[in-house]
Amino acid sequence: MSKLIVQNNGPLCGEVIISGAKNAVLPLMAATLLSAETCKIDDVPALKDVTVMRDMLISFGAKIEWNGNGEIVVNVENIETTNGDYELVKKMRASFLVMGPLLARCGRAYMPLPGGCAIGKRPIDLHLKGFKALGAEVTEGDFFVEAKAGPEGLIGDTIYLDFPSVGATENIMMAAVLAKGTTYIENAAEEPEIVDLANFLNKMGARIKGAGTDTIKIEGVEKLKGVEHTVIPDRIETGTFMLAAAITRGEVLIKNIVPDHVKPIIAKLKECGVDVELVDEGLYVDARDRELTATNIKTLPYPGFPTDIQSPFMAFLTTVKGNSEVRETVFENRFMHVNELNRMGANIKTKDRTAYVPGDSILEGSEVVATDLRAGAAMVLAGLHAEGITEVTQIYHIERGYENFVDKFRKIGATIIKVED
Ligand code: EPZ
Repeated sequence: MSKLIVQNNGPLCGEVIISGAKNAVLPLMAATLLSAETCKIDDVPALKDVTVMRDMLISFGAKIEWNGNGEIVVNVENIETTNGDYELVKKMRASFLVMGPLLARCGRAYMPLPGGCAIGKRPIDLHLKGFKALGAEVTEGDFFVEAKAGPEGLIGDTIYLDFPSVGATENIMMAAVLAKGTTYIENAAEEPEIVDLANFLNKMGARIKGAGTDTIKIEGVEKLKGVEHTVIPDRIETGTFMLAAAITRGEVLIKNIVPDHVKPIIAKLKECGVDVELVDEGLYVDARDRELTATNIKTLPYPGFPTDIQSPFMAFLTTVKGNSEVRETVFENRFMHVNELNRMGANIKTKDRTAYVPGDSILEGSEVVATDLRAGAAMVLAGLHAEGITEVTQIYHIERGYENFVDKFRKIGATIIKVED
């Protein structure tokens, strides 16, 4: 097992270029199942999760060219099976996003259940509610779920999402694009990744309106063609590097960003006294030579404060003046990093879904665990501020979602190395 060794080397300083968004490219790749023609996706980050999705598409019969950097070319002329591969599904729950496209194109999808993870149960009831509303017969086993379209295929309908689930919105949108008639998704997720997927599908010939709002209208069409598309930049990676500048009291220029996608993070960092400016080349974050103060965070579905930035922001809040409260409303168990931060001297208390974060902590380097993708990044950030050496283990979580993580940090002055344990 490999681990990261991190040491406080003072303020980070330099430029970082943000990669394509993991949470956009995964649904885009799933959407290629909807067409028999070739799709080309550019700015694809070289991530373990992208490799799993690639292998999932190949298991259905896709022909894929991907040299691991930038561009992936996918052709799914023939789908050889509509059974998902358990070995792949268990590696990444987002592989469940292939269900909607398979159901739309082939009228059937059989998926092993993705199961929960460290941050929560991760149910799929809203995905299945959508498939049923489109007329599919859904069979739920203990370890699998199967959806089969009726003799007429899928029929458009209106679906209300009890929670604006990102994955359910994406899966239902992809199931509805080839349905007969019109589908409305109400209380839909509004994340930028939903908009990117809708743009991709519309380029393929779909007729989707309202992506990015709470009501999405999908008028079914006969078939979809192959397209070319570039993935949007990763707003969560952007936020992670904004916090790297903040926690080390440095200055970092972040390039290849969409400012609108990180508004809540900009607002909250400014409340703490960090200078964040939009300049021609990107976002300039300056936290040098100033007293930074506490703020309160409440995670919400987009455009609220992103749950994926909750743990990196909490690491930062341990270092500012004054006490902060962090409320996690999206996932039921996303405070696994609290114990790890406390091992470093943070003294955070939690009650239900609120963490009480004392400021002015003198963090001590220690051996900590990456409990999920974003918590792993949070522990690296804490290590960049702490006194002494911090060792972060289970870093396969980090490598799932951050492209060239170590290189990008080293380029802005971080002392961080990856070692095989
Ligand atoms: C996506 O997960 C992201 N993953 C997550 O990023 C992100 O944290 C999450 O959206 C919220 O923004 C990808 O896009 C691949 P949800 P997803 O469905 O779609 C409940 C990362 O670190 N829910 O919006 O699984 C669920 O339990 C990852 O990059 C149901 O109740 O998130 C949770 O409490 C972590 N029933 C809430 O909705 C359902 O059928 C949000 O889940 C589906 C979800």
